[in-house]
Amino acid sequence: MAGTEDAYTAEPFVPKRGGLPALRRAAADCRGCPLHRDATRTVFGAGRATARLMLVGEQPGDQEDRQGEPFVGPAGKLLDRALAEAGIDPADTYVTNAVKHFKFTRAEPGKRRIHKAPTLRETTACGPWLAAELARVRPELIVLLGATAGKALLGSSFRVTQVRGTVLEEEIHGRPRRLVPTVHPSAVLRAEDRDGAYRGLLADLDVAARALG
Ligand code: URA
Ligand code: SF4
Repeated sequence: MAGTEDAYTAEPFVPKRGGLPALRRAAADCRGCPLHRDATRTVFGAGRATARLMLVGEQPGDQEDRQGEPFVGPAGKLLDRALAEAGIDPADTYVTNAVKHFKFTRAEPGKRRIHKAPTLRETTACGPWLAAELARVRPELIVLLGATAGKALLGSSFRVTQVRGTVLEEEIHGRPRRLVPTVHPSAVLRAEDRDGAYRGLLADLDVAARALG
């Protein structure tokens, strides 16, 4: 209901017409949930409208919030390397996030900003932007990077470990879509066995590369 806390949604900010540039401009002024208050700027998706592959992450991190582009920090560097090794051409990808504002806490005032996972409510609020990107790009395949992206598009029962590295065929916003879930590149960076985790990510991206043909 309007005026209640449950009213968090990007919907009224999303233009019905226009391409990706119009979406990006409008998203810069989104106030659909409280995350815009503390973040520096909206970090919208990046890539060509003709991309065959869409990659969906969680939310921008510290570097992305500063630079205004998705996946330009440490997780992005690792993702770039993995995509290159899987033979996926970056020019054929559109990269975005389930949530478009950086959510963080500080251990102490003025200290380093620490990533905080978005809630399901925030992810749901931001969903209309992701839906609009999907409708404009119409990718042949979607790679879900981690649980937040999975829940955003496939619902809260999504579990990465159960479906990673497989080609799913699901109806999303009334259209059939093919998706390959995998782990989030930040999870690879945090893993105890980083090499093993990286090989796992690469194996999943190989599945995506083959599915694209
Ligand atoms: N992690 C994400 O999920 N997205 C980014 O853009 C950067 C880090
Ligand atoms: Fe809007 Fe999404 Fe930012 Fe919330 S996180 S203000 S819904 S763009």
